[in-house]
Amino acid sequence: MHLECIDCGKKHDLSTVANTCSCDGLLEIRYDFSKVQFSLEDLSAVPPHVWKYRELLPISGVPISLMEGGTPLYRCKRLEEECGVKELYVKHEGMNPTGSFKDRGMTVGVSRAAELGTKTVACASTGNTSASMAIYAAKAGMEAVVLLPQGHVALGKVAQALMHGAKVLSVRGNFDDALLLVQRLCSEKGFYLLNSVNPYRLEGQKTIAFETVDQLVAYGSEKSPDRVIVPVGNAGNVSAIYKGYKEFRELDIIEDVPMMTGIQASRSAPIVDAFRRGLAEIEPVIEPETVATAIRIGNPINAPKALQAIRQSNGVAESVTDQEILKAQKDLARLEGIGVEPASAASIAGLRKLARQGTIERDEIVVCIATGHLLKDPETVIRSLSPPTEVEADFDVLYEALSHLERS
Ligand code: F0G
Repeated sequence: MHLECIDCGKKHDLSTVANTCSCDGLLEIRYDFSKVQFSLEDLSAVPPHVWKYRELLPISGVPISLMEGGTPLYRCKRLEEECGVKELYVKHEGMNPTGSFKDRGMTVGVSRAAELGTKTVACASTGNTSASMAIYAAKAGMEAVVLLPQGHVALGKVAQALMHGAKVLSVRGNFDDALLLVQRLCSEKGFYLLNSVNPYRLEGQKTIAFETVDQLVAYGSEKSPDRVIVPVGNAGNVSAIYKGYKEFRELDIIEDVPMMTGIQASRSAPIVDAFRRGLAEIEPVIEPETVATAIRIGNPINAPKALQAIRQSNGVAESVTDQEILKAQKDLARLEGIGVEPASAASIAGLRKLARQGTIERDEIVVCIATGHLLKDPETVIRSLSPPTEVEADFDVLYEALSHLERS
């Protein structure tokens, strides 16, 4: 196992603590698959969770774990029919310990921090990363330092970071400003950086791909979907999931890597812009905006990895409006019983748009990643739907009000 620069190909020893190469390129963990002993069949009795795949993870000791992963993969027949695809599944990452996929990356990231003897871990976050880092830091007995963009983090996430004991700072700026500040804090003050530029984080998140294969087998479907649709913010997750599928292909577990399809909010969409224009690098969006605060990011640090994942897999990058996101959130909740936060619904909104355009074909098996739970962001729900109707505690008044009540 070693670290390798995705730009210049330089190899780095695993003892390296830096997250980037001397050329500034992003690093990725590589395995020698001729030495890896891994068979999905041998593990068929083990239910999916992150550490089921530990032969393909870079931690050898006892991990700092809170039983993350093992999230449900739901077949969504009603949306499947509406969109006209062969099979549609939603992987509900909101069912992780803190209610988002970040827990998969953090169990590995904090385990690595523990191996290094770290006292303080740090991150900038639109919310979910901070909640997740806080629980694993708590479990590991480390200090957690969190920088949040002021006024743009959903309440549930702030509550989690505070309750689990992180030191939480609200930065007067956006996520991109906070990320620059936390990188400096880490390089100058010796804190361990747990944003998704850290390649160990992405190793944990690639297990989304492993689990999906495991679960599709259980459904009796194809092993590998044709397309995976992922909401994109700092662009780590789409890269991580791609890496997972690539590794399963290298191990001959699957034949084809799915088309990685990244969805951004239309006013925070530098990757979509670079993809459409065929640019090698993104042009940052200076003032990103969207109701989906989790992906309100203008300068995604993992953009080079994400563009590689999307292009190499023949996928696409597409953007959706806030209105499309909120409609998808409501429809997923009401047609399929799956409650997600707005950023997660971007994947469903993207599916609809691409199916309408004919980019997604009728014979495709599609997996949408629902990245975070509905309860993360109750304020947006109350703003987009009407609050409950107040009535007197009287049966006749109540029944009368009910007969006129429309659902919002
Ligand atoms: N969905 C949710 C719910 C998220 O919280 C994030 C990222 C994403 C999608 C996008 O994932 O960054 O890997 O492209 N949230 C980060 C955070 C930025 O700080 O919690 P990505």
